[in-house]
Amino acid sequence: MKELFNINESPELGNVPPKMYAYVIKSDNHGGPMQSLREEVIETPQVGFDEVLIKVKAVGINYNGLWAAMADPVSPTKFHGKDFHIAGSDASGIIWKIGEGLVNNPNFKYKLGDEVIIHCGQSCGLCDECNGGNTMLCLSQKIYGYETPYGSFAQYTAVKAAQLLRKPKHLKWDEAGSYMLTYATAWKMLFGHAPNTLKPGMNVLVWGASGGLGSAAIQLIKIAGANAIAVTSSKEKGEQCMKLGAVGYINRKNFNCWGDLPNVNDKEAYGEHLKEMRKFGKAIWEITGKNVNPDIVFEHVGKATFPTSCYVVKTGGMVVFCGATTGFNLSIDASYVWMRQKRIQGSHFSSLKELSDANKLVENAMFKPIISKTYPWKDLPLAHLDMLNNNNTQFGNAAVML
Ligand SMILES: NC(=O)c1ccc[n+]([C@@H]2O[C@H](COP(=O)([O-])OP(=O)(O)OC[C@H]3O[C@@H](n4cnc5c(N)ncnc54)[C@H](OP(=O)(O)O)[C@@H]3O)[C@@H](O)[C@H]2O)c1
Ligand SMILES: [Zn+2]
Repeated sequence: MKELFNINESPELGNVPPKMYAYVIKSDNHGGPMQSLREEVIETPQVGFDEVLIKVKAVGINYNGLWAAMADPVSPTKFHGKDFHIAGSDASGIIWKIGEGLVNNPNFKYKLGDEVIIHCGQSCGLCDECNGGNTMLCLSQKIYGYETPYGSFAQYTAVKAAQLLRKPKHLKWDEAGSYMLTYATAWKMLFGHAPNTLKPGMNVLVWGASGGLGSAAIQLIKIAGANAIAVTSSKEKGEQCMKLGAVGYINRKNFNCWGDLPNVNDKEAYGEHLKEMRKFGKAIWEITGKNVNPDIVFEHVGKATFPTSCYVVKTGGMVVFCGATTGFNLSIDASYVWMRQKRIQGSHFSSLKELSDANKLVENAMFKPIISKTYPWKDLPLAHLDMLNNNNTQFGNAAVML
């Protein structure tokens, strides 16, 4: 057998070449994605006792690949201690080798050649949270491809058996390989924080509605019989959100209530910001009806939008957030939050049980992954650059085919 195969070549099923291509981020070469994501030939990873080696067919592009490339806020090499990092938390592919501990395990339901997708949640499997609790609360919980060194941006990737799901048959490789991280995160944000869980008739304000998370949220909100109010940055994207199931959209370019809340004692600056936030709130009412504020605000934009999210969410409602793309320092007027008993809830990916429940909608073709663009392998860094630049043609997720 050859030592190394081209991206579009494959050895016989089960034969693992000693070397492979991968995009490798080096701890001394962080920067923009075009600089930091470098294709290299490296040794194919060994398969651990409870692991499976996947021959990767397609990968999903997520923000965590960008954070990793740019070391923003820190280099992921600090999490796992290696001096390199292979990013990539979503993939579809074929089972190519099965770890020793799984070969004769009757609970392991897969065989060589099975078509699968992987999710990025890893946990210890031993603690009480992993056994009857919430795997995301396990103290050893890690996001594969961000907190672990060998992610999916490679010809082969070794994953824990618990990370496998069958590839939904009706999906193409790129569709299957790019939805899970954003979809499962959106599911957890909307259904995972009782009692503020999504119910029919509720109103949900969805920031970044044209993105990976946002396009998943719109579909889930519609399926639940609730109302998605999409926020986006152009008429075209707004109309795409409506087609996907939003009941209305707001073009954020028409407002100016962004960034840190001015000091509450600075009456003029604070008053100006408040006026803009009220104007934004009225735009929501044009969709929901006068005085009808969102039950849930679906947040991930962070610094730019957080004060407005906390202002417009209804009394007793929830601002749920899983990221802070525009900055990690978030400001709020505390008095609005306590007097109106609002809930601010952090959310991170989803538990194994939640994502497996969520995946039933994909298997039944009720939820359809949306891909804006599928790039060839050579353009994996460009796919990240387009995401960073919030390239206007993007809607939904992006994928890369191997
Ligand atoms: N914790 C987790 O488990 C988890 C999982 C997935 C993602 N995340 C985080 O969530 C964030 C979004 O991820 P994604 O995959 O949905 O990204 P994405 O596909 O790039 O979508 C983000 C959207 O945000 C909007 N946006 C950009 N700048 C904005 C601004 N200044 N103000 C308001 N909206 C703005 C853009 O839409 P418009 O320009 O049309 O408004 C863009 O489409 C990232 O920070 C990511 O790291 C966290
Ligand atoms: Zn555990």
